[in-house]
Amino acid sequence: MQLDVFTLFPEWFDWLGRERHVANALAAGSRLNFVNYRDHTRLSGRQVDDTPFGGGAGMVLRVDVVEDALRAHYATDPVLLRERRRVIALSPSGRLLDDSLVDELAGEPALTLLCGRYEGFDERIVEHFCSDVLSIGRYVLSGGEPAAMVLCDAVLRKQPGVLGDERSALEESFSAALDGDPEYPHYTRPAEHRGWRVPDVLLSGHHAQIELWRRERSRERGAGAHAADDSAQ
Ligand code: ADE
Repeated sequence: MQLDVFTLFPEWFDWLGRERHVANALAAGSRLNFVNYRDHTRLSGRQVDDTPFGGGAGMVLRVDVVEDALRAHYATDPVLLRERRRVIALSPSGRLLDDSLVDELAGEPALTLLCGRYEGFDERIVEHFCSDVLSIGRYVLSGGEPAAMVLCDAVLRKQPGVLGDERSALEESFSAALDGDPEYPHYTRPAEHRGWRVPDVLLSGHHAQIELWRRERSRERGAGAHAADDSAQ
């Protein structure tokens, strides 16, 4: 898969390429490219943003600057780009990212991620260039970069051959194998620490019982999480 990230801070992503799963994905043929909006602005002082019409605090990423960056990178009118690949604006007001959406995006051959800064994007960027607006949670970050990193990590680790043990992706939290529930608890050695014992069933060697125990714990966690979501609404 090819991921192109448009940002004012490409250097923030340096560590991401070194993260093991991401490095595995890159070694297996995935591509991670960065484009700095500032390299494409025609405005003086490498300006990329401006004050909002109508007044208000903060600065807004300019549509002409984003258009120039997209046009330079893809050599096409950005209005046509979203017909060829998903172009995703990262914004707190977008659709919430979850495991099924990550699965869907991980199956795409290419994604373009647009990071906003300050007050975010001129709305015409979203309206005319983007296929999706995604949020990683109902809170406001100072920019889309951490959200883009989350998305890159989540989709790259789903690429075939990236995780050392393929079962860990099949049976992880929110997967179909667990009916969308969170993953069951894990334990490792020592079997006892300060009197805190690992559940006997896990030491029993009974695979069917272990499976059942894990499924039950996973369901309990799912029910707990749903109750917390409901009371938050
Ligand atoms: N940009 C700022 N906050 C964000 C969030 N919660 N998700 C995605 N992009 C963002």
